[in-house]
Amino acid sequence: MKKIGIIGTGIMGNGMALNFLKNGNQVFVWNRTKSKTEKLTQQGAVVCKTPAETAKNADIVFEVTSDDKSSKQVWEGKNGIFQGADKSTVLIASSTLSIERTDQLAEKCRKKGLKFMDIPLTGGRIGAESGNLTLLCGGPKKTLKEITPELKKISAKIYHFGPEGHGMRYKLILNFLQSVHIIGFGQAMKLAKSSNMDLNKVSEALVEKPGGIITNISSKAYFKEPDPVTFYIKHLFKDLKYAKKFAGKSDLSLLDEVLKDYNKAVKKGFKDKDWASINTF
Ligand SMILES: NC(=O)c1ccc[n+]([C@@H]2O[C@H](COP(=O)([O-])OP(=O)(O)OC[C@H]3O[C@@H](n4cnc5c(N)ncnc54)[C@H](OP(=O)(O)O)[C@@H]3O)[C@@H](O)[C@H]2O)c1
Repeated sequence: MKKIGIIGTGIMGNGMALNFLKNGNQVFVWNRTKSKTEKLTQQGAVVCKTPAETAKNADIVFEVTSDDKSSKQVWEGKNGIFQGADKSTVLIASSTLSIERTDQLAEKCRKKGLKFMDIPLTGGRIGAESGNLTLLCGGPKKTLKEITPELKKISAKIYHFGPEGHGMRYKLILNFLQSVHIIGFGQAMKLAKSSNMDLNKVSEALVEKPGGIITNISSKAYFKEPDPVTFYIKHLFKDLKYAKKFAGKSDLSLLDEVLKDYNKAVKKGFKDKDWASINTF
């Protein structure tokens, strides 16, 4: 059975590590704040001193930190992933990163002769903790085939979008659309409220039609703040900024709108609130 490395044990990395442990894999973890790995140690994870040590011990390494900045630190910094990985290790970027950063990582791995895939995630805290994530893959088919038995331990669905970088491209497209749905739900409720309608009834009917996961979570968050947070506003805001850069000169007026709304939420001090609770501020 493959040895797994998880670098970054936040909401997503923690859930992924737990499911590999449940499935009998040996799991090596590293987190900047060591105290956050305590529960995983109790479940049998081995805590490493550096990302390099994690990469050295593992056959498959998932990097699940916040953003481009943290990615740069844990891959290329002192005692970073590149210092511990060898040509047999499969290195996976599972953080949501900019396209520029993802392409740069793929290129660096290619030059070093290392196996790389971008596999950003969707499914939130519950998906990670229950082993039911959807994995959005970019990279060689051969590498994907090699690691699929392990990926199945943390996921319910695996999509392969094409070569390196295409998983991340899809992830940014997805989060753009999901944020439009969240803000759209809030505006629909605003209209219902302005007409003194029964908001519970309106929300219940919207969950029925158009329905879908995002209408459902938006509706729940409208009446009760999600606790614990499943996905931080600060991370979605980061994804929308990356999507804007990815879009370049394309005319995506809705992307500009949602970017503005999430920027406002961050400025008001709600960066650590749940992404779906934005309609309540
Ligand atoms: N939560 C979701 O629903 C979800 C879904 C899909 C994708 N994602 C993406 O997955 C990634 C992780 O999300 P999350 O929800 O697990 O976030 P999180 O709970 O905020 O965890 C972030 C992780 O990154 C680490 N980190 C941050 N800055 C760092 C730095 N400079 N150097 C080293 N480590 C650093 C944190 O370490 P500390 O503990 O030391 O702070 C923590 O382990 C993000 O890119 C996010 O956009 C999240």
